[in-house]
Amino acid sequence: MGNGIAQVAARTGYEVILSDVKDEFLQRGLKAIDKSLQRDVDKQRLTGDEKQSIIGRINSTTSLEDLSKAAFVIEAVTEDLGVKTEIFGRLDQITPRETILASNTSSISIARLGAATRRPDKVIGMHFMNPVPVMKLVEVIRGIATSDETYEGVRALSEKLGKTALDCNDSPGFVSNRVLLPMINEAIFALYESVATRESIDGIMKLGMNHPMGPLELADFIGLDVCLAILNVLYDGLGDPKYRACPLLKRYVDAGWLGRKTGRGFYEY
Ligand code: 3HC
Repeated sequence: MGNGIAQVAARTGYEVILSDVKDEFLQRGLKAIDKSLQRDVDKQRLTGDEKQSIIGRINSTTSLEDLSKAAFVIEAVTEDLGVKTEIFGRLDQITPRETILASNTSSISIARLGAATRRPDKVIGMHFMNPVPVMKLVEVIRGIATSDETYEGVRALSEKLGKTALDCNDSPGFVSNRVLLPMINEAIFALYESVATRESIDGIMKLGMNHPMGPLELADFIGLDVCLAILNVLYDGLGDPKYRACPLLKRYVDAGWLGRKTGRGFYEY
């Protein structure tokens, strides 16, 4: 999702640094940005020159130290508490004291991320939805220590990016994934228990509920590893067995069938 966030920020006029651990991941991200902007050029919503200047505002790096002058950081690393707290600790060392450190986490506690820094007042959740250039929502999550100033800053930035910011408290899965993931998990249970085929399950939800994608297709789109990680956060954080991940989801993740990004999930790509 980092590339989508970078694209939207650069399109708004911000100078962006896209940081990742490997150059190949950065190249993949930049390719996705190019493809996404090209759609708008093809539809004559953007000129070729505008596209090039947006891309020109995005610099990429594999060195986190290059964020030393960043005024605002949006972290979108893998959905793993250990990895995220390590990154927040490093960002706290690297960036100026006044820099806001936002996380695009889908479910992890903002208070915990804040506690990994010496500036929990500047740590906040800024949860974008995929595909970021299309989806209007930013779920804004305040940790127990997040200051009013940080919160106002994030709301203002979200609006500048053309998004609608909606508030939520720091509770496992926030609102979006607390509601979405049990639906996806239930669809996987329905497949596991042979209630219907994958096409029927998705078709019923698309035609019957007017969802743009069926839940299995959406799980593939989000990434099955991400879905499993979120369900585990809900299960551990809320202590309720209703969030238990379907064994079929676990089996697919074990097999490396993670959805669109690996070419196979509930569907083949
Ligand atoms: N970049 C830019 N534009 C894109 C795009 C992208 N990556 N993907 C799609 N679009 C645009 C298209 O250009 C098109 O624009 P137009 O209608 O103005 O011409 C529009 O989106 C529709 O695209 P398509 O016609 O190609 O395809 P669809 O009509 O099937 O829409 C979709 C694709 C927008 C992805 C739609 O299927 C959808 O809304 N799916 C559900 C997405 C969703 O639920 N996202 C949330 C996931 S949960 C999450 O992110 C949280 C996390 O924590 C798990």
